Parts: sequence; structure tokens; C-alpha cells
Amino acid sequence: MSKTILITGGAGFVGSCLGIRLKSLYPPYKIIALDNLKRRGSELNLKRLRESGVEFFHGDIRSPEDFNVLPKIDVIIEASAEASVLAGIDAAPDYVVNTNLGGTINCLNFALKNKSDLIFLSTSRVYPIEKIEEIEFEETETRFNISSTQKIKGVSDQGINENFSLEGYRSIYGATKLCSELLIQEYRQFYGLKTIINRCGVLTGAWQMGKADQGIVVLWAARHFWNQNLSYFGYGGRGKQVRDILHINDLYRLIDYQIHKIDSLNGQIFNVGGGLGTSVSLCELTKYCQEITGEKVPIEAVPENRPADIRIYVSDNSKITKATGWRPEIGVREILEDIYIWIKDHQSSLQYVLK
Ligand SMILES: NC(=O)c1ccc[n+]([C@@H]2O[C@H](COP(=O)([O-])OP(=O)(O)OC[C@H]3O[C@@H](n4cnc5c(N)ncnc54)[C@H](O)[C@@H]3O)[C@@H](O)[C@H]2O)c1
Repeated sequence: MSKTILITGGAGFVGSCLGIRLKSLYPPYKIIALDNLKRRGSELNLKRLRESGVEFFHGDIRSPEDFNVLPKIDVIIEASAEASVLAGIDAAPDYVVNTNLGGTINCLNFALKNKSDLIFLSTSRVYPIEKIEEIEFEETETRFNISSTQKIKGVSDQGINENFSLEGYRSIYGATKLCSELLIQEYRQFYGLKTIINRCGVLTGAWQMGKADQGIVVLWAARHFWNQNLSYFGYGGRGKQVRDILHINDLYRLIDYQIHKIDSLNGQIFNVGGGLGTSVSLCELTKYCQEITGEKVPIEAVPENRPADIRIYVSDNSKITKATGWRPEIGVREILEDIYIWIKDHQSSLQYVLK
């Protein structure tokens, strides 16, 4: 049966990649991307969307009226956001709150009216900073690793699972996402919406408009490509902090499954990330970038932490793997090669965003 799918933030990195792939694998589906093009570089995705048959609506999720022009929708993928963890910390919080929380409420109300299912792109940043910093770790030559014995619940050497504490501050960005999660659960319980929440770790791949506060893997690759300076911020300035990274095509396989199996996953919250297998520290990332680009760039050590920094985050995918069989397949080197080839092939159009 054909479906009409709305992707909010549909011109962004995640939204555009999901939309284009959905349209290519399910040609009869109507895929609509709604975006206000706030993110620098999202405008570069408009041509890709058009060429692949995804319909673009220039709209703002903060405005309920912008939903009025849309047709009946079967599934909403809420992938719009001010996605920077520093948003609202170094400037006024209005935009991040109104988009990430107010906008999600508008999506929920629109979903109610249409009886649409809702898949929400949440974040690992819902977990509080101070608790994450309590995780026991070991230090190696190139990285911090999560220790196998831990005093707090919801963490093991496989990463952080959904039982991790939610007590504490987490950044304005993380808080807006957690507030949205809470409302999504209420709309499911009391209004009967079908919903899935994915708490994603670092997502990356070609077409991510990487910058220092969001899209660090692409930023790292781009700085090597154009031979520009980088810095290791925080934790002594040695680049040992660790994240798991998930390629957008791996995320796509999961979202495709969730769209088509929402009845069996309704109401669930999942941690979703690359997991231990694709975890990488900054200095390990540097080594991959050096090997792939052939460039070695100056990297300044800045020992002091910045607000909202965390030492280590690795998603424990056990719950989502048990529920769906899904697991990431694309490794760190493959991810970086994908990004490198994309930058090389599109360098003239990308340099005003990435350089
Ligand atoms: N990329 C990651 O590492 C990551 C990790 C965890 C969660 N997420 C979540 O995944 C989703 C997609 O992130 P992304 O990486 O594609 O970010 P992105 O910035 O590339 O895309 C977000 C899109 O939303 C649009 N947007 C912003 N404000 C809007 C508004 N008021 N109305 C309409 N559109 C608006 C932007 O223009 C942009 O195109 C976000 O919800 C983000 O919080 C991303």
C-alpha cells in the first residue's frame, strides 16, 4: 500500500538522506520534505530532493499554519531541529526551544488531525552531563574506554542503555528533546498516536554540513581535505574523548523498518548509534583522516573543557537489536571514505559551507 510520508527538517542531513532513499526504494510513495532552510548548507540539498522526486515545502514547524498546505500524511518523521548542543548556551534559547519543543508539539497536533504515525529523532543528549561524567573509564594511548565495572546503572562496557538516569542537567538542546519525548508519550497514551523515539548518538555521512558544534566527523574530514587547522578541546587537549558514529545508511535501514513495523514497536524508546564497534576518539579520527586524505594538519591542544562537553558516549544498541534485528554494518573507515569521496566530488559547491 502506498504511503504519504512527511519529513520535517527534510532538507537537513538526516531528513534529505532518508527522504531520497525512501523515494528511490518505494517509488509510489509520496515523500514530502518540510524545512525552513535555517541550517547553512541545507539549500544544497534542494536539487537532490527535486531530482529524486521528493516534494519540498518551504515551511517552519514553529508555525502551525505552515502545516495547513500539506496533504493527508500517513507517517511523520520528525527530523527538524536546531541540532547544536551549544544552542541556547552561547545565545538566547528562544529558537532552540521554539523549534525543538514548540515545533514538535505542532507536529504532534498535526499528527493527531491526520492520524499519522510519528517517528522522532531524539538524541543521546537527553542523558545528563554530570551522570555521563560519572562513568568509570580507562585511559589508553589513544582514547578513553568505558570500564567493565560500573557503580551507576544503565551503563556497561557495551555502552549506555535506556535505563541510564535522566536526573540532572543536559544542555538546552537535550532538554528540549527530552521535553518533546515526554509529550510524545502523552499523545500516544491519551490520544492514541503511534510513536517511536530513537535516541541517536552521532550520525554522519555524505551531505552532512559539518561544523564545530554539530557534525564533527565531517568537519574533521573537511579540515584535512582543505588542510586547515583543528583543535582538541577539553579533557587535557589530547583528543581522547570518544563517541560512537552511525552512518546515515545504517540509520535508514532502521527507519525503513520502523515505518513498516510501527505496530510492533509502538510507544518504545530506543538508544540508536554506531555502538562500540564504530566508536572512535578524536585522535583516532585524525589518524583515519590522515590516511584517507594524505594530509596532516596542525592540531592545537586546548586542555579546558567547554560547556556541555562529555568525555565518552557509546550507544548500547541491545534493546533495538533485540526488538528488530537491526545492527550497524558500516565501519569507521568506510564512513570516512564515503565523506571524503563526497567532499572531493563536490568541493566547489561545498567549500562555502565546509571550508
Ligand atoms: N546529526 C546528528 O549527529 C544527530 C544526533 C542525534 C540526533 N539528531 C537529530 O536528528 C535530527 C536531524 O538532524 P540533522 O543532523 O539532520 O540536522 P540538520 O541541521 O542537518 O537538519 C535539521 C533541519 O531542520 C531544519 N530546521 C531547523 N529549524 C526549523 C524550523 N523551525 N522549521 C523547519 N525546519 C527547521 C534545518 O534547516 C535543517 O535543514 C534532529 O532532530 C537532530 O536533533 C542528529
